[in-house]
Amino acid sequence: MTARNPPLSLGVLVSGTGSNLQAVLDAIASGSLNARVRIVISNRPNVQALERARSAGVPALTIPHKDFATREAFDRALVSALREAEVSWVVLAGFMRVLTPEFLSAFPGRIVNVHPALRPVCPGVDAAKQALAYGVKITGCTVHFVDQGVDSGKIIAQRAVLVDPSDDLASLSARIHAAEHQLFVSVLQDIAAGRVVALPAEGQPGSE
Ligand code: GRF
Repeated sequence: MTARNPPLSLGVLVSGTGSNLQAVLDAIASGSLNARVRIVISNRPNVQALERARSAGVPALTIPHKDFATREAFDRALVSALREAEVSWVVLAGFMRVLTPEFLSAFPGRIVNVHPALRPVCPGVDAAKQALAYGVKITGCTVHFVDQGVDSGKIIAQRAVLVDPSDDLASLSARIHAAEHQLFVSVLQDIAAGRVVALPAEGQPGSE
């Protein structure tokens, strides 16, 4: 019998629908992901992601970024709530804010994001729209470590999605979303099993 790692303690940051959060919660509930979501935090009130968390019995709270004078002050409030919940990895699941260096250094090399395109192309909020506008034949999704840029940071895994000539924004986005759900869970399974490890902090051996 192989020893099992302790469950991964996750904090999930959201801003909206929370379908990626749901995929994570479902994988935990089915036993395929060895993790616990300790807390879900939204920067926007009354979003569906908060309801999804509460339905799964996960503590969920809103920390509105608009209540804070600076990004640093907002990020300090996030860090404090995540630390109180004893989170070890932070997952951005549709979180629409750029994090400050202060936040990044609170969870060094242990913050991951999912993006609905094959990075490094199509960064930003309207990735599927950009893909259609370019006329690309293949797009997809990326799970990556988070750094100070927008949708930048070391790539962990990608999945391709073929663009059909008949696709519109809704149909393409739906297929990318479905791919994201699988990829996100699969990367978290790899982290939980120790197959993907925290990035070394800058200046440490192994850092670029
Ligand atoms: C996803 O497409 C994710 O890649 C992007 O925001 C979207 C969030 O979707 N960062 P959901 O809230 O998980 O449904």
